[in-house]
Amino acid sequence: MKRRIGILTSGGDCPGLNAAIRGVARASYELFDAEFVGIADGYKGLIEGDYREMSRSEFSGILTLGGTILGTSRQPYRNMRVIEDDNVDKVEAMKANYKKMGLDCLVTLGGNGTHKTANLLSEEGLNVIGLPKTIDNDIWGTDVTFGFHTAVDIATDVVDRIHTTANSHGRIMVIELMGNKAGWLTLYAGIAGGADIVLLPEIPYRLETVIASIERRIEHHRSFTIIAIAEGAYDKSWADKKRKERAQLLKEGNFPSVSYYLADQIQKETGLETRVVVPGHYQRGGSPSPYDRVLSTQFGVYAAHLIAEENYGQTVAMKGGQVSHNSLKAVAGKTKFVPVDHQMVQCGRDIGISFGE
Ligand code: F6P
Repeated sequence: MKRRIGILTSGGDCPGLNAAIRGVARASYELFDAEFVGIADGYKGLIEGDYREMSRSEFSGILTLGGTILGTSRQPYRNMRVIEDDNVDKVEAMKANYKKMGLDCLVTLGGNGTHKTANLLSEEGLNVIGLPKTIDNDIWGTDVTFGFHTAVDIATDVVDRIHTTANSHGRIMVIELMGNKAGWLTLYAGIAGGADIVLLPEIPYRLETVIASIERRIEHHRSFTIIAIAEGAYDKSWADKKRKERAQLLKEGNFPSVSYYLADQIQKETGLETRVVVPGHYQRGGSPSPYDRVLSTQFGVYAAHLIAEENYGQTVAMKGGQVSHNSLKAVAGKTKFVPVDHQMVQCGRDIGISFGE
């Protein structure tokens, strides 16, 4: 049985992508007569016809390699059916290149946007298999995405290290972690790193509550406070504003991001020395953690079985500790937000973490 498989990585990169690519390839070579076509830079390569035959040897030595050997890009789903200045019909171009490559199926590794386009291609008749990738862990239908736990490890190390300098200076340290829509990374790293205040996009915070938490710590002779805030978190007084409006307000105030705005308010209200730390893309760099190497390999192997069974239009998922799958249709367009009453949030409350409510 022969299968000719196109593979692409799309959206923000993260550790584990190459481990997942390796998992798909090595299992496919074991299961059937596999040929791989590497598509460059995500959907951009599929649109432009930028692809190449891959040899079996290219999948060796990449288990621990961060980033993606294929390259990636962001091709917003909302533009997929828009004819822009280049006058290219992106969907027709992708279908034509899929056919030109002679593919039996296309494997896409990506986040929410990637899944929406993967589903679009599936509905257009292509055989597509998705793998859920993002440090945000905000893909619906799966307990976890690869890249997430490595980012938790990195972000937790930042919180740990900031503890010592905060303690030495008796400062308020505002640490801004990635997560524009969902706060999973900030929630996990905040708890793991022992943050005192954790601010998530899902729970708009009240400044007065944040300040009261700081003052309560001072009353208990704790001279410093660690605040872990997701980049998408915002003040409750802005709850009626759209994300773009909130970004514009920050820009007008000359604040690069929410953490600088919050730090400025804290310093003005309390007079306490307040500093900001934004590890940014550092949270997406380097080698995958052993946990993510295993998860990525499991997901890749499962994808190879879906291909062997010709069970297309699916995306791999972890459900209750078992690797499984969901239909692309079920996943596309959904985001897995942190529920306000989630057990992890309640766990944080129970140990005295303030979520700024
Ligand atoms: O989706 C993953 C992510 O790292 C988000 O957490 C972050 O907001 C975004 O990507 C950054 O996007 P870019 O890498 O395009 O700057």
